[in-house]
Amino acid sequence: MPRYHVPEPPARLITPPARGITRRTVMTGLGAATLAAAMPRSGRADTLAADPWPGSAPDTLTSREVATGYNNFFEFGTSKSDPAEHAHHLNPTPWQIEVSGHAHAPGVIHMEDILSGFDLEERIYRLRCVEGWSKVIPWIGFPLQHLLARFDPTSDARYVEFETLHDPVQMPNQTGDDIDWPYREGLRMDEAMHPLTLLAVGMYGEMMPNQNGAPIRLVVPWKYGFKSIKSIVRIRLVSERPVSSWEALAPREYGFYANVNPEVRHPRWHQATERRLHDGGRIATEKFNGYGEQVAHLYAGMDLFENF
Ligand code: MTE
Repeated sequence: MPRYHVPEPPARLITPPARGITRRTVMTGLGAATLAAAMPRSGRADTLAADPWPGSAPDTLTSREVATGYNNFFEFGTSKSDPAEHAHHLNPTPWQIEVSGHAHAPGVIHMEDILSGFDLEERIYRLRCVEGWSKVIPWIGFPLQHLLARFDPTSDARYVEFETLHDPVQMPNQTGDDIDWPYREGLRMDEAMHPLTLLAVGMYGEMMPNQNGAPIRLVVPWKYGFKSIKSIVRIRLVSERPVSSWEALAPREYGFYANVNPEVRHPRWHQATERRLHDGGRIATEKFNGYGEQVAHLYAGMDLFENF
């Protein structure tokens, strides 16, 4: 039987009311085949997120249908429906991640060892895209810091660089030159080690759908969605700040930090409000996407623009 209980949340993970995060330890030591069967299903998709923590108000979840049908995954095309339509080309099994660079124990970790080797939790996070829309998604995953710890970063590891699979057969739009493939992203080490930073292997109680970044993706809830890189195959621990794909393409539009900030306009989209995909309604965008209490200290002393 899978272990499923609601733990006491560590204080640092509790978000204030209406911030849309809950956390439940849902399983331990299960293989890929059993993930879907093991996930709890009650009171979830299409409804209010269950609220296992007193004081953290539930937020309305985006339906699974919308979350898996309206996507950005440029490896499959540039329209919002392209990923759902074309992501069947991707074969996420077998899968492995290579971790290299400034680590005492660099190496490769296979997906089965990830699924069986880390305690998976459900975390309900908002995802705020730089284009001005947002979703609320129940992810299944574990903190990135747990994976990095396995490889024992050295003190020279100041940043973490991530890469998506590069295979135009599985990712047909990689034949195009929209981006200098593979898609790359990066975090500063303290951002990567922050307990909110998640490696997600599923959502809505099921294995990660291909269009959402199967079999494993990053979720950094206080940053614009483009930082949350999908279908990761490579992680490098580096000393110099990496250049992300979007930053390389349009540095005036996509900063490295990309922290959600309603006060910093994007050249093409004002960032003061966002359209919630579950009902099309608009709400005011919150600084750090509402996670400021947990993360603002990471940016003390940085100016607003640098912060973007
Ligand atoms: N990762 C890769 N490899 N390729 C992409 O095109 N798009 C990003 C991010 N991760 C993207 C990616 C953007 S712009 C957003 S908003 C989110 O994924 C969207 O995630 P979702 O489709 O699961 O909502």
